[in-house]
Order: sequence, then structure tokens, then C-alpha cells
Amino acid sequence: MGRLKGLTAIVTGGGSGFGKGIVEAFAREGASVVVTDINGESAEAVAAEQRASGASAQAMEVDVADPAGLAAAVARCESQFGGLDVMVANAGIGQRPGTMLETSLETLRTHFEINALGAFNSCQAALPALRKRDAASILITVSGIALAPRPQLYGYGMSKAAAMYLMKALAVELAPERIRVNGLFPAVGDTPMLAEFSGGERSAEADDRFVQGLPLGRFITPEDVGQAAVFLSSPVEAGAFTGCALPVDAGRCI
Ligand SMILES: NC(=O)c1ccc[n+]([C@@H]2O[C@H](COP(=O)([O-])OP(=O)(O)OC[C@H]3O[C@@H](n4cnc5c(N)ncnc54)[C@H](O)[C@@H]3O)[C@@H](O)[C@H]2O)c1
Repeated sequence: MGRLKGLTAIVTGGGSGFGKGIVEAFAREGASVVVTDINGESAEAVAAEQRASGASAQAMEVDVADPAGLAAAVARCESQFGGLDVMVANAGIGQRPGTMLETSLETLRTHFEINALGAFNSCQAALPALRKRDAASILITVSGIALAPRPQLYGYGMSKAAAMYLMKALAVELAPERIRVNGLFPAVGDTPMLAEFSGGERSAEADDRFVQGLPLGRFITPEDVGQAAVFLSSPVEAGAFTGCALPVDAGRCI
């Protein structure tokens, strides 16, 4: 408890799955959080749950494809909580598998718009505020697919590889200012996104196949990702970590 005490954060895509797990872990460790999501109702539900347990949490409906919405979230975090220490660029969309010939340019563009450019927009909006703080950092939820590609997920995989590039390049750019930039690289998660990777609907057979590809024999949970996010965002525990691609993947990328 208290590992992020006094820090403030924005979590994009915080209304569900891994983002919700990150919000919960941050709040438990004493951070004040602005929960943003394109789904304003789910963001508000997550923030309300945290407020009910005594944490400081606000919600905002923000599409990561909209730089003005992200700037408003940063302004809200500064006015409500006195500044912004951690930007968690977590929002993303999954994909139904398809071969190269089944993949349209529109699919690729949509994935780049949210998974790659959305992360870029989130970092860009946060940077002026982060520069005012002493222990600032950025965390991007990438994916194990950027480290170990899988077939038939071209839009998702290519956009996540771009997000990994963003994480590493920004880590180098901001290192002289002591702003750390790191990435979480989860494998298959037990979140609503899994239905997309399963072709539209989860099934016991598809779940079994996914789990068999994970050496520890279990899905990644929002709690797993939340714990890893707390570690990388703590200036005490992870002060020497920047440009770090941390697999949270039950051994998938070994
Ligand atoms: N679930 C997995 O297997 C898995 C594996 C590796 C990485 N990831 C990544 O983890 C992150 C979270 O995914 P999840 O599994 O929790 O999925 P999820 O679908 O449960 O949550 C994603 C959240 O992002 C929000 N979102 C979608 N588009 C948005 C937009 N344009 N602007 C703002 N918010 C938007 C959704 O409303 C949702 O609340 C994503 O970046 C995803 O790519 C997921």
C-alpha cells in the first residue's frame, strides 16, 4: 500500500479489462486517477467504484483519436489533482483473425488510428504537464505480439509494433529530462477483448488453445497488468527503468 502515494495519473481505456486493473492497482497504492475511456459510462463506473472505497478518481469520456479530448483530460488532472505524473496510454482495439488477402486497408487504418496514433496522441498531450513534475513517467500498453508476431492479426500486430517503436524512441528522447517511458507487453488476457481474438465470440475450445500457448497455463489478468504498471510507474522501485519492454505474458515470449 502507498507505493504511488502523492502521484497523479491518467489511464486511457480505463473503463474495462487491463485499464480497469491498472486504475484499481494505482488507487490501491495511493495515486489519484483520471479514468478516461471512449465509453464514458464504463469510465464513470470504474471511477465511482474507486471513490466509494476512498480513493481520488475522476472520469472523462475521451477518444484517444481526439487530441483535444486528451488535452482536456490533462487539464482536468492538473486542476483537480494539482498536476500529472503518469500517463498510461492503454486504450486499444482487438481484431478478428484474417489472412493477408482477407485484410482490408480500412482495417489496418483503424488499428493504426487507435493502437498506434492513439498512444502517440496520449503521450503528446501529456508531455507539457509531465515536464512540470519531478518523477514523471509514461506507460504504454503494447502487446507480446510486437515481440513475437502471430499470423493473421496484421492490423493489430503492425499497430502494436509501431506502439513499441514509439515507446522506445520516446524513452531515448526524454531520458535527458529524466522522464521515463516504458511498455507493458501482455499476452492473451481474460478481458472483453478476447472475444475479438477468438473470432467474435469466446468458446471453451478457443480458450483452451490460447492457454496452451502460455507456458504458465493461464490467462493474463487485469490484476497482473495492474501490478506490473504500479512497479514501472514507481519512481522508487523502477527509477532506473526506461525503454523497458516488460512481458506480462505467462512465459509466452520466452
Ligand atoms: N486482452 C488481450 O489479450 C491483450 C493482450 C495484449 C495487449 N492488450 C492490450 O491491452 C490494452 C487493453 O485491452 P483489454 O484487453 O483490457 O481490452 P478491453 O476491450 O477490455 O478494454 C479496452 C478499453 O479501451 C477502450 N477504447 C477502445 N477504443 C478507444 C478509443 N478510441 N479511445 C478511448 N478508449 C478506447 C474500450 O472502450 C475499453 O474500455 C489494449 O491496448 C490491448 O491492445 C490486450
